[in-house]
Amino acid sequence: MGKSGRDWTQIYAIYGMEEGQTLVFLLIHAIFFSFLSILFLLYFNPICYFFGSLALPAGAARFAAGFTGSVTAISAVCLFFAAGNMFYSSVGLHWDMAQRMVSAVNDWSTVKYALDVGCGRGILLNAVAMQLKKEGSSGRVVGLDRRKTTVSTLRTAGIEGVQEYVTCREGDARRLPFSDNYFDVVVSAVFVHRVGKEFGQRTAAAAAERMRVLGEVVRVLKPGGVGVVWDLVHVPEYVQRLQELRMEDIRVSERVTAFMKVLILVWPLEFELMKRYMRLIQNIFLAKFRMMML
Ligand SMILES: C[S@@+](CC[C@H](N)C(=O)[O-])C[C@H]1O[C@@H](n2cnc3c(N)ncnc32)[C@H](O)[C@@H]1O
Repeated sequence: MGKSGRDWTQIYAIYGMEEGQTLVFLLIHAIFFSFLSILFLLYFNPICYFFGSLALPAGAARFAAGFTGSVTAISAVCLFFAAGNMFYSSVGLHWDMAQRMVSAVNDWSTVKYALDVGCGRGILLNAVAMQLKKEGSSGRVVGLDRRKTTVSTLRTAGIEGVQEYVTCREGDARRLPFSDNYFDVVVSAVFVHRVGKEFGQRTAAAAAERMRVLGEVVRVLKPGGVGVVWDLVHVPEYVQRLQELRMEDIRVSERVTAFMKVLILVWPLEFELMKRYMRLIQNIFLAKFRMMML
């Protein structure tokens, strides 16, 4: 059961797992390392003998065998932990954060138009639509994504019973295909940091692209409209930009420490995994802001 009280199996069945192959990769290696650890336990003496045959003194051979066995066992535990965390962060965390983002908007009853930028599978999009439905609102939410996700996203909206509240549009968040001052609410989850990645992770060009997206979000927000952005990194940079854009009431949530997946894990497994794992435990934030009333 998720924090929001919804059955996770249901959420996973609807939205599926992104990058399931990485999860399988982690699990296979976790099982492999567990198996090795058991071998170390069962055959400790022959392994010591093997290390001894490499011209190590008896004490050093026992130490080497014990050390290798311990590292193998710790690796297995870390891999299982990483797999579990990845499983949660892929859908469960997104769902829980979507609920938080929805509840960050005080009054949905007056919302006519909402936008989810970079909507992907539609977890947040549908959470907004479900809120509109709950309010008995005539409001609608648009999901924008650069990829052709329309069919699959609308399918998830259909399963959630909110299809009539949702429309999808293909487009680039750097040039939102909407007129100025159009939306009462704009939300976005785990998206802005992805924009401009083609220019490198920490380049000025990438930062400029992210700023363009924020500029677009602000442009399409109505006076008095609310924006809620969840992201993993760059939040102080967003806050600065939102201040420059004269947003009011900018609030950043406390840090939510969570594991977020990084895409492809590469060989050699252990080193790379440990290195990446340290990077995977990230702080994620929610930033809320209000367009100044004119
Ligand atoms: C990590 S996914 C997040 C999806 C969704 N917000 C969620 O929380 O599950 C990022 C999404 O942003 C989309 N995207 C990336 N660059 C984009 C751009 N410039 N304009 C619009 N969408 C973009 C991708 O196609 C992808 O679906």
